[in-house]
Amino acid sequence: MTDRELINIAIEASKNAYVPYSRFAVGAALECSDGTVSTGCNVENATLGCTICAERTAVCKAVSTGRRKFRRIAIYAESSDYCTPCGMCRQVLAEFSPDMEVLCVRADGRYVSYKLRQLLPAMFSSKFLDYE
Ligand code: THU
Repeated sequence: MTDRELINIAIEASKNAYVPYSRFAVGAALECSDGTVSTGCNVENATLGCTICAERTAVCKAVSTGRRKFRRIAIYAESSDYCTPCGMCRQVLAEFSPDMEVLCVRADGRYVSYKLRQLLPAMFSSKFLDYE
């Protein structure tokens, strides 16, 4: 799948965003290692704090259907600037695939590509934990 195809899926997913508070619709398209794509949009809440970002929606859909390895994610918002993932979403993506690619797309369709490790250097991970 090309970057552009993945981006188009993210744009389509943003149309389902539930954003009565921010009016900032975000769409995500998460390409898994088996080639399938999990979509997500942001789902806001009157508490504001219970809001879920588009990226985490896509991750939870993928993991809950048995997919834990990701190649790329495209993130789209109708914004004049590139929509980069928030810190919480970076950490959640890194739990599963720290070497994945992140495509950040702005309203005119232009995009920038990052490695997740660039966006989350010196990340915390399970290697610090000792459960034995
Ligand atoms: N949001 C996302 O869904 N993903 C991002 O990468 C940035 C922020 C959402 C959360 C909230 O619904 C709205 O955008 C404004 O912060």
